Amino acid sequence: STSYIAHFRVWRGDIDGGGLTDFEVEVHEGEVVLDIVHRLQATQAPDLAVRWNCKAGKCGSCSAEINGRPRLLCMTRMSVFERTETITITPLRAFPIVRDLVTNVSYNYAKAREVPAFVPPQDLGPGEYRMQQEDVERPQEFRKCIECFLCQDTCHVVRDHEENKQAFAGPRFLMRVAELDMHPLDAAEETGLDRKTTAQDEHGLGYCNITKCCTDVCPEHIKITDNALIPLKERAADRKYDPIVWLGNKIRRR
Ligand code: SF4
Ligand code: F3S
Ligand code: FES
Repeated sequence: STSYIAHFRVWRGDIDGGGLTDFEVEVHEGEVVLDIVHRLQATQAPDLAVRWNCKAGKCGSCSAEINGRPRLLCMTRMSVFERTETITITPLRAFPIVRDLVTNVSYNYAKAREVPAFVPPQDLGPGEYRMQQEDVERPQEFRKCIECFLCQDTCHVVRDHEENKQAFAGPRFLMRVAELDMHPLDAAEETGLDRKTTAQDEHGLGYCNITKCCTDVCPEHIKITDNALIPLKERAADRKYDPIVWLGNKIRRR
């Protein structure tokens, strides 16, 4: 048949503690996990807290963990699970609990504010910017980010290491630093801001050991590690060891 009863375990609680609660919920063909959470609210747990907005994979609000894996609730189809399987939904592990499936993601906003903005070239007016097409296309991938913070949640540097949060900006914001550092018109250096040095010293680039877990969970399929973090590491190493030619010609150049 097209409808069936699924077994769910949902984390319920708040900052003082909580635990998993079992539910049996009806599932219809074509539904996603967020539909089931909404059905739970409508039929059995009216006070269940969940954050969501677009139900289209674009707002980045419905981030949670399903069977321990960071995912968007609205983009995870029920059809990827066995009908007999118990599906466990828990809040993002790396961030403090507000209630039930809702976490406080303000760490990410704090890290966003620590990345200095694009610095416009001093000698060019509006409309005078000229860039190569490849320099326009390269950052388009990074701009697809919906700020779901699944990458921030999964990265082992902070996932179980609260103490690293001070020093480490996380993949999403190191990607932003990389994007600005690759921008041919960014004039940060002329104002004394070396983005490569600050990537290491202020955003914790050295903590990343390129495990690529961030890339694996990104719902926009952004190649965070290969296209942002590794190139930034190479450019930072270039800078650090300049004028020695670091590793000969192995380092990719812009
Ligand atoms: Fe989410 Fe991907 Fe953006 Fe990270 S880079 S916040 S996983 S969309
Ligand atoms: Fe973390 Fe991604 Fe680096 S998961 S260690 S930021 S490659
Ligand atoms: Fe917007 Fe899931 S509700 S991404």
